[in-house]
Amino acid sequence: MASSLPISIRADQQPERLDQCRRCALWEAATQAVPGSGPHRAPLMVIGEQPGDQEDLQGKPFVGPAGALLDSALAEAGVDRKQVYVTNAVKHFKWEPRGKRRLHKTPAQREVDACHYWIERELAEHDPTVVVALGATALKSVLQKSTVKLQASMGDAIEHDGRLVIATFHPSYALRAPDAGTRERVYRAIVEAFRHAHRLIEKHSK
Ligand code: URA
Repeated sequence: MASSLPISIRADQQPERLDQCRRCALWEAATQAVPGSGPHRAPLMVIGEQPGDQEDLQGKPFVGPAGALLDSALAEAGVDRKQVYVTNAVKHFKWEPRGKRRLHKTPAQREVDACHYWIERELAEHDPTVVVALGATALKSVLQKSTVKLQASMGDAIEHDGRLVIATFHPSYALRAPDAGTRERVYRAIVEAFRHAHRLIEKHSK
């Protein structure tokens, strides 16, 4: 049956390069696709949701305010960001205009599913022992389960496809939560998730 979508947007395309990706429509409003960044063989992969305003402009993941919090949490957990492969479940910034600003919009599940193509390739290429999923979108993507709940998945590492997945909050929640107590609790949980990942990597490398 003929698709009602324009021929250029098809979730079954298999592009070789990220800048060719038309698996969903998000590329149209974004400045550029934002690839993951980090060493080729990284025992730890960190997956966020999608690039934000700064990441969209610079073409690098986690370089804005959420990235500063991520850096601080990694450092506090004793993890060197240079040793970590950092990426996002969705590679284009989804936003809506609000005055002169571009406000983040949560990606739809079909966009997360379309972009899982790239996560699969990154997992195969970088072969991490442990994946830390920052927030519900990343967790749904890495586990390929749209019904998974973030809070219920925190704590123990989840075995999935021969890797260990640790779920924690997204750094943006630690920045935006309405009260200081919640912001501190969320930040501590993110640090603890990285400590947990670090311990598991040490254990599995022996
Ligand atoms: N938030 C994300 O999930 N990823 C980024 O790269 C930046 C902000």
